[in-house]
Amino acid sequence: MSAISNTLSPALQRLITQMPKAELHIHIEGSLEPELIFELAKRNQVNLPFDDVASLKNAYAFKDLQSFLDIYYAGASVLLKEEDFYDMAYAYLQKAVGDGVVYAEIFFDPQTHTERGIPIQTVIQGLVRATQDGATYLGIESKLIMCFLRHLSQDSALETLKAAEPYLEHLIGVGLDSSEVGHPPEKFTDVFARARKLGLKAVAHAGEEGPPAYIWSVLDQLKVLRIDHGVQAIHDQSLIARLAKERIPLTVCPLSNLKLCVYDDLSLHPIKRLLDLGLCVTINSDDPAYFGGYINDNYLHTFQALQLKASDAIAFAKCSFEASFMQESQKNLWYAKIEQHALAHGF
Ligand code: HPA
Ligand code: ZN
Repeated sequence: MSAISNTLSPALQRLITQMPKAELHIHIEGSLEPELIFELAKRNQVNLPFDDVASLKNAYAFKDLQSFLDIYYAGASVLLKEEDFYDMAYAYLQKAVGDGVVYAEIFFDPQTHTERGIPIQTVIQGLVRATQDGATYLGIESKLIMCFLRHLSQDSALETLKAAEPYLEHLIGVGLDSSEVGHPPEKFTDVFARARKLGLKAVAHAGEEGPPAYIWSVLDQLKVLRIDHGVQAIHDQSLIARLAKERIPLTVCPLSNLKLCVYDDLSLHPIKRLLDLGLCVTINSDDPAYFGGYINDNYLHTFQALQLKASDAIAFAKCSFEASFMQESQKNLWYAKIEQHALAHGF
C-alpha cells in the first residue's frame, strides 16, 4: 500500500515492524503478485485476459468479496506445476520474514487447482517443499491449512479430504473459505467432523460479510477453534461474551476489509473495540498481493487509522501466538521474546 500519512512515532513503527509475530490468515494464492502471475503465465504458456501487469493491477478495484474472488481465481490459473506452487509460497515466506513473521499457518485452496486437472499431490508437494526450505534457509516455521471452497458441495469437500489423506502429516488443519453470503457453514458439518477425526484442527471464515449467525454455526456445527475474520461479531453481544469467555481467536485482516468494502474507512474498523472487549484478536494480511499490503502494512495502517499504542501492538503480537496451533511451551517463549523486544525499544 502507498506511503501512510504518518503520525506514528518512529519508535512505535520500529516496535511494530520488527516485532516477532505469527501470521494465521494468509491465502497462499492471494500472495501471488501480478509480476509473478505474468512470469508463470509465460513459463506455462497460459493466456491471461490482461495485456500486462498494469492492466491486471487496474482490475484490482473490488466492490465486495465476490468481485475479488473472480479475479483471484483467474490469477491462480497460471499455477500448473509443483515448482509454481513452490515459487509462490517461497516468495511469500521471504516477504513474511522481512515483516518479522517467525511462524505462519498458511491456507491453500486445493479445489481451485484440482478442478483444473492439477493433481493435489502437485499442489501439496510444492507447498511443503517451500515450507521446508523456508525453515532451512529463512528461519521461518510454517504449517499448511487446507481450505474447502464453500461455493462447492460438501461431496466435493469430502472428495478433497479423501485425496489429501496420504499427505495428512503435512497438514495442521482444515478451513472454509470463498463466497460467504448464501453459503451457510452447516452444509459442511460432516466433512469437518471427518477432518477432526483425522486429527486436523478446524478453522473457518465466518462473519466477514456474513451475519453473526454464521459465526455461531461454525462454533457449534463445525466446532472450529478459531474464526477467520469474525468482525461481524461486534453486532452480537452474547456472541462477543462467548468468544471472550472461551478465548476463541479472531484472525482479522483490516486491509482486506477495507478493499472489499466491509468498512468504508479503517477508522471505522472494530478491531480495537473487539480487543478491548476481551477477545483474542490478531492482525493478518489475507490476500496481500491483492489488498495492498503484507502484515506490517496491515499493522501500520490500522495503528495510524485508529491511533493505537505500543500496548496494543504487544497485545496483538501476543494474541498471534496464543491463537496459533504451536505448542504451549513454544508460545511462552514467544511471549517472553515480545516483552524483551518491547523493553529493548523503550516500551
Ligand atoms: N474470504 C473468503 N475467501 C477467500 C478470501 C476471503 O477474504 N480470500 C481468499 N479466499
Ligand atoms: Zn481469508
